[in-house]
Amino acid sequence: MDGNGRWATARGRPRTSGHVVGARVVRTIVESAENAGIGALTLYAFSADNWKRPTREVSMLMRLFRRYLLSEMDRCVQNGVRMRIIGRRDRIPAELRRTAETAEETTRGGTRLDLRIALDYSARDAMVMAAERAGGRALTRDSFVRLMNEVTHAGPVRDVDLLIRTGGEQRLSDFLLWECAYAELYFTDVMWPEFSPADLLAAVREFHARDRRYGGVQESVAAAG
Ligand code: FPP
Repeated sequence: MDGNGRWATARGRPRTSGHVVGARVVRTIVESAENAGIGALTLYAFSADNWKRPTREVSMLMRLFRRYLLSEMDRCVQNGVRMRIIGRRDRIPAELRRTAETAEETTRGGTRLDLRIALDYSARDAMVMAAERAGGRALTRDSFVRLMNEVTHAGPVRDVDLLIRTGGEQRLSDFLLWECAYAELYFTDVMWPEFSPADLLAAVREFHARDRRYGGVQESVAAAG
């Protein structure tokens, strides 16, 4: 969800006002995902490296995340959306942590959309913590995934099909590195405050047009020997 800050600055407004608009866009895009039949959506709201931002911006974001969870919880229950927070929980404000836990508990019956919000999240940290938790035991992909699951509180770790990054950046920035092993990457110059349901559908359409081979070959090529 990149581009809030630049979008606001370009309009002579403080960066934080871009985040406020960005939060509204989150609501719209979550609704579109529900309606487009997307089963799981993870939003990269705050990375472990985002603590480097000015204190004022960080505090404002934490308040915004809490407000979002409070205001969306009931709607999520009505619409079958299950909310989960992934990332560390020991550094975010206690109020936000409690609200996140309430949101997870309240929406746990949702089966239509698995909505994950990455807060204080680092894929590298998640992998290191999972490896530490193994304590020297032999690991398989499955057992490692189970440990990652425990350390990020994420519920089942799922492979990412499509990763969308807005704001013209073309990198992963420590997001779901394990889960993105075979993700289709989609980069757009659209700034997050202007990202629309039509932009989401365009990305999904392009995803369906991609040829996903997972290291194999096309079926017709395999059949031809
Ligand atoms: C990244 O870049 C964006 C963030 C660190 C915050 C994203 C937050 C929101 C979209 C608002 C609310 C989110 C939820 C889940 C309610 P940036 O926007 O600072 O971008 P820039 O500096 O690259 O323009």
